[in-house]
Amino acid sequence: MDLNDAKTHDHKLVAHKGFYLINGTHDPDDVDRIYNLDIRDSDVFIVTYPKSGTIWMQQILLMLEAKGDLTAISKLNNYSNADLIPWIELNGNRQAFISAPSPRQRVTHLQYQFLPPALSQKKGKVIYVARNPKDVLVSYYYFHKVANMLETPKSFDDFFEKFLRGEVFGSSWFEHIKTWYSHKDEMNMLFITYEEMIQDLQSAVERISLFLSKELTNEQLTNVVKHSTFSNMKKIPQASYEQVPGDLLSHHLGRFMRKGTIGDWKNHFTVAQNERFDEVFLREMEDFPFLFIWDINDFK
Ligand code: A3P
Repeated sequence: MDLNDAKTHDHKLVAHKGFYLINGTHDPDDVDRIYNLDIRDSDVFIVTYPKSGTIWMQQILLMLEAKGDLTAISKLNNYSNADLIPWIELNGNRQAFISAPSPRQRVTHLQYQFLPPALSQKKGKVIYVARNPKDVLVSYYYFHKVANMLETPKSFDDFFEKFLRGEVFGSSWFEHIKTWYSHKDEMNMLFITYEEMIQDLQSAVERISLFLSKELTNEQLTNVVKHSTFSNMKKIPQASYEQVPGDLLSHHLGRFMRKGTIGDWKNHFTVAQNERFDEVFLREMEDFPFLFIWDINDFK
């Protein structure tokens, strides 16, 4: 794929240094300035490819910070998880990061190359959340219908091909995970999967808490878990993006908290699409030292 600087792919995407950004949502020059940000040891970046559990990790971090006390976020009723742990690459957010008090917690969908090199000198902490790409594709397809900053898919088939070609915000899922993973040992990185979190949220929260050197009692940890389950997050407007303005998300076209499970791709992929996906996956991920969980029944 040839992604030239500032070449607009369609009215929504803009290619910048080999990576698709969203026209109007991201400013390529501002994104470039992220590289030069000073990093503090207390900074935490949640890194995800879109639709991999970003809002979920935001919720867990917010709840850990609040020691499991939900009222700490519910009283901030005008703020969503995305306001409390913002995207560093969104227009206007970089400047606020510079003067923000510690601990600064941010999310990003950016590729490794855009983030400050200090992260690779073990300054700050990175939590990379990965999700099996078949479920990412399906979740992203539905999100494109709801999100007004993204192009509405012509059809599932059309979106399927675009995803495999990396012609979406975030570009290639394969490149995203491989590149970040290849720098894992240079960073203070916790690599965790959506599927592990589904399988055993309590253990996942304990790992995250330990990684962030938080000191919570067992009861507090249990409360963090309780307020981070799919069914409970759905009931919390801040944690389900329900009050994100309608000009950004067309809520009547679908919910951000959609299914929250593993294996929904089986309800969408044709046999031929699955074979084609597997072929690309095997080729791209041949040397990747990690096994993905593709079905909720794989745990049993
Ligand atoms: P689905 O569309 O498959 O339901 P992101 O925040 O990166 O955009 O990811 C959104 C996906 O994470 C959606 O997937 C959403 O339902 C799922 N999700 C969010 N919170 C979750 C939770 N507590 N448990 C399981 N899945 C969750």
